[in-house]
Amino acid sequence: MVTLLRVCGIVGYVGHRQALDVVLDGLRRLEYRGYDSAGVAVNAGDALAVERKAGRLANLEARLDEVGREGFAGTTGMGHTRWATHGPPVDRNSHPHSDMTGRVAVVHNGIIENFVALRGELEAVGVEFASDTDTETAAHLVSRAYSGLDDSGTKGDLPASVRAVCRRLEGAFTLVVTHADEPDQVVAARRSSPLVVGLGEGETFVASDVAAFIEHTRDAVELGQDQVVVITRDGYDVTDFHGEPAPVKPFQVTWDLSAAEKGGHEYFMLKEIEEQPEALANTLRGHFTEGRIVLDEQRMSDQDLRDVDKVFVVACGSAYHSGLVAKYAIEHWTRLPVEVELASEFRYRDPVLDRDTLVVAVSQSGETADTLEAVRHAREQKARVLAVCNTNGAQIPRESDAVLYTHAGPEIGVASTKAFLAQIAANYLVGLALAQARGTKYPDEVAREFHELEAMPQAVQQVLGTIDQVRDLGRRLSDSRAVLFLGRHVGFPVALEGALKLKELAYMHAEGFAAGELKHGPIALIEEGLPVVVIMPSPKGRAVLHSKLVSNISEIQARGARTIVIAEEGDETVRPFADELIEVPAVPTLLQPLVSTVPLQVLAAEIARSRGYDVDKPRNLAKSVTVE
Ligand code: F6R
Repeated sequence: MVTLLRVCGIVGYVGHRQALDVVLDGLRRLEYRGYDSAGVAVNAGDALAVERKAGRLANLEARLDEVGREGFAGTTGMGHTRWATHGPPVDRNSHPHSDMTGRVAVVHNGIIENFVALRGELEAVGVEFASDTDTETAAHLVSRAYSGLDDSGTKGDLPASVRAVCRRLEGAFTLVVTHADEPDQVVAARRSSPLVVGLGEGETFVASDVAAFIEHTRDAVELGQDQVVVITRDGYDVTDFHGEPAPVKPFQVTWDLSAAEKGGHEYFMLKEIEEQPEALANTLRGHFTEGRIVLDEQRMSDQDLRDVDKVFVVACGSAYHSGLVAKYAIEHWTRLPVEVELASEFRYRDPVLDRDTLVVAVSQSGETADTLEAVRHAREQKARVLAVCNTNGAQIPRESDAVLYTHAGPEIGVASTKAFLAQIAANYLVGLALAQARGTKYPDEVAREFHELEAMPQAVQQVLGTIDQVRDLGRRLSDSRAVLFLGRHVGFPVALEGALKLKELAYMHAEGFAAGELKHGPIALIEEGLPVVVIMPSPKGRAVLHSKLVSNISEIQARGARTIVIAEEGDETVRPFADELIEVPAVPTLLQPLVSTVPLQVLAAEIARSRGYDVDKPRNLAKSVTVE
């Protein structure tokens, strides 16, 4: 049995139109949230018509054409589009999930953490499961509550049955439930997962995002934590999980339809930048239980990890930079040598590999040909390979010995943002798992490092508060011919990442340097007005690093550079040398890349936008590079 974590799109409808059409349109607009499978359920008179299919929405539509859409006539329905991160994205795991009678259907976003116990309880009373999912437990539980087969006392009352079930569920979830006996209502619930209601004329919607119904109405209602909503043609009714009336937040959607697909943002990249706190939290969730770091699909034993005597990180582009960041932490925590290699170079230079070498292959897509070939080469040499990947079931994790998934959700913008931050977090988990297995860190130290990581979504959220300032700066820099980026220690790979973002998006010459290398050549590039972005370390961390960088900034400023300094808030020493100062929150040194990268992403995107380029689809690039 596997646990399925997900970032999914959900839509529910009760009204006067054909529910199938409304739901499919809604799913189309939510497909950015995931396209591993799609499914619909329509209340078609006295039975539910359900269809679901692995793969993109187009597969579901083809399937509906095959079976005939006549069977889906009805004005109450719901649908789901899934981004699978654990577990196979196959038909049987696709939503909606039904009870054994097929009279209840449920779609779900999130994870029911106690589903193993609930499943055991249900199996003990004879319930047969048709999928590997946690969601299916909710379908059976609602069915039993509604039929009076449990002791909830909610027989024949769908909202009360859903509330009774929600009180039993642990974890984060949005659930939407429909019952064949209740053709005039759809019931939905939320805890720590998004859900909004849309209010039309004689029709009501629920969805994970207003994008799903923006075509029909801009009148929306945001649900609060632990609430259940019943939608009918005439409106909605919200209670808490105990049936008490609950407060909600009505609002007007101000976006147009095209923006809606990007959640109200001008382009996906900005949306994805803003999703970084969530991407980090999702990547870390569930990896520290009972006082220990746990990886996902760990097909390597603790003994295997203890035997490791050398680590290689192989990756391309931004993923490679995430490895460069992680080198500092992994070496520090494990005392193992870590080499970070461009995957495209790795197998051509005969690297020294054996069965005690751990190769960490980092790839958002899991399809990058260079990284895949590096994985194959490493395995041929008997090294063990651990994939850090954002795409469930992709080729790289399939061919690796173990996998750690980044749960960043779908990244549509070609330039990597949230996946990059999630890769750093996942690489750090690998480092902590190694330190734990090898005993180079005491359990309380591992716990402390993990808890510091866990605080990062909050810190990144705070950095998002600088977006307007950085966009303004971006507009002012859009005429520049080149930009340099400087950093030391973990700030050095951040400088490389900042330069890569600018090159790929704004087609501008950009270079990242280790600040100490400046005097060995690159300082000759400095001329009057050249923008130089400097990533400052914390003044409270390694004082020597900080003072060296302050000297570097004063050197370049003296030579006419326009200095743009990313520094910890309250760092007064840099202020006199900063022509532009962007402040980020104070975090431990090794975690600084998670905050200091964010303004660089925004800067590159805004310069590109000001120059009139397509931020989401830079020229000559593709999201997944499947050629060597
Ligand atoms: C840069 C970027 C690329 C990717 C690289 C690896 O913004 O997105 O450099 O990081 O192509 O891709 P994955 O992680 O899919 O292997």
